[in-house]
Amino acid sequence: MPARVKAAAATTNPFRFGRIVSGDAFTDREADLLALERELRGGQNILIEAPRRFGKTSLILEVKRHLEAGGIPVAYLDCMLVPSRARLADRLASAYLDAFKNPAQRAEDWVVQHLKAFRVRPTLTLDSEGHASLSFEAGSAGAPNLDALLEQIFQEPEVIAREGKKKRVVVILDEFQDLMELGVTLLRQLRAVIQHQQHVSYALLGSRQGLLRRAVHDRNAPLLKMARPYPLGPLPREEFATFLMARFRASGRPLPKDAVYALIDFTGAHPNDTQEAAHFLWEVALLPLSTQELVSTAIARVLDAEAAQMTVLWHDSAPAQRNLLVALVEWGGRNIYREDYRRRANLGPATTVQRAIQTLIDRELVDLEASGAYTIKERFFEEWIRRRIIGGEL
Ligand SMILES: Nc1ncnc2c1ncn2[C@@H]1O[C@H](COP(=O)(O)OP(=O)(O)OP(=O)(O)O)[C@@H](O)[C@H]1O
Ligand SMILES: [Mg+2]
Repeated sequence: MPARVKAAAATTNPFRFGRIVSGDAFTDREADLLALERELRGGQNILIEAPRRFGKTSLILEVKRHLEAGGIPVAYLDCMLVPSRARLADRLASAYLDAFKNPAQRAEDWVVQHLKAFRVRPTLTLDSEGHASLSFEAGSAGAPNLDALLEQIFQEPEVIAREGKKKRVVVILDEFQDLMELGVTLLRQLRAVIQHQQHVSYALLGSRQGLLRRAVHDRNAPLLKMARPYPLGPLPREEFATFLMARFRASGRPLPKDAVYALIDFTGAHPNDTQEAAHFLWEVALLPLSTQELVSTAIARVLDAEAAQMTVLWHDSAPAQRNLLVALVEWGGRNIYREDYRRRANLGPATTVQRAIQTLIDRELVDLEASGAYTIKERFFEEWIRRRIIGGEL
């Protein structure tokens, strides 16, 4: 192998996807960082709403680091991983212990100091890395006790801020809409407590539209108007391109500008999709191909890698939904109920189309854009249908 190729083969792929990114793998979002930091510092609750894998968690953890550097304690909980209300009590209390304990203080002392008035006493566990967590074993305590316990826990950040003479503490609830699945009263209970808190700002992050609507947008939603909505867009095209090109260059595989732009245009600058496509573009970057072929090959590799997930999405779609998905790719998403569209795409009666589109929306596979067009949300799923189903590629 020539030395140059060997050196390049030894470097690691600089593009990360599918998980939280930080440090030099995190780009831009400067304006968002500043705005979110300012709002939370000032006591404003915020609601960050964005599609899956848009970079919500990476961004808020960056905000967390900024706030902490400025002396504001921040608790973080991912609600997606909370299967029951009893577990919520454990996880939230553990997150508070993690965030609000002063580093010089022993966890045992913190628990005695802050949770002594609690009806249910927690058990403190230290794992092998010395990381402390709390458990109330509240599942066995009975429903009224669990309600009372949760209320005490919800109140705790305000109590801690006052006792510690902190002007502000911040609580991040990531994927908070999943709490809707733990019972209808839970978010009402949360609202009842947090609306009186003077020293706590909440950052609520969510992506599942159906649940979000019921949690914050419907007329009688439990968290209606509790937070400033902060919609998160894709990454700015120019900055994202500069970031990607610099990483191709630094890893010994420089690419022409138009290849990177072609990639960004394909993904619409969706953060995760773009990094994933760049990851595979980096793999093929040394092949003797034209720019266009390079990008197309990289996308084919993404589709190969994601084939299992795509196939599941396809298998889970009833025939009317499949027909409609194909029609959206082939004929676009406008006027789908019109007779000529239905005839051309072989969709059957309008009521069938209506039911199929509603199911696809409920499954979060399709979106109705403000322009009135229906679109497939996942760019790679759309391309998979185009290449594999319509084009018959293997
Ligand atoms: N600021 C950024 N700079 C570069 N890449 C980013 C950025 N934000 C997100 N990404 C890309 O998106 C991926 C997903 O990021 P992250 O997990 O933060 O998103 P999320 O919206 O929280 O996703 P999920 O819906 O799975 O919770 C990252 O692995 C990375 O590839
Ligand atoms: Mg996330």
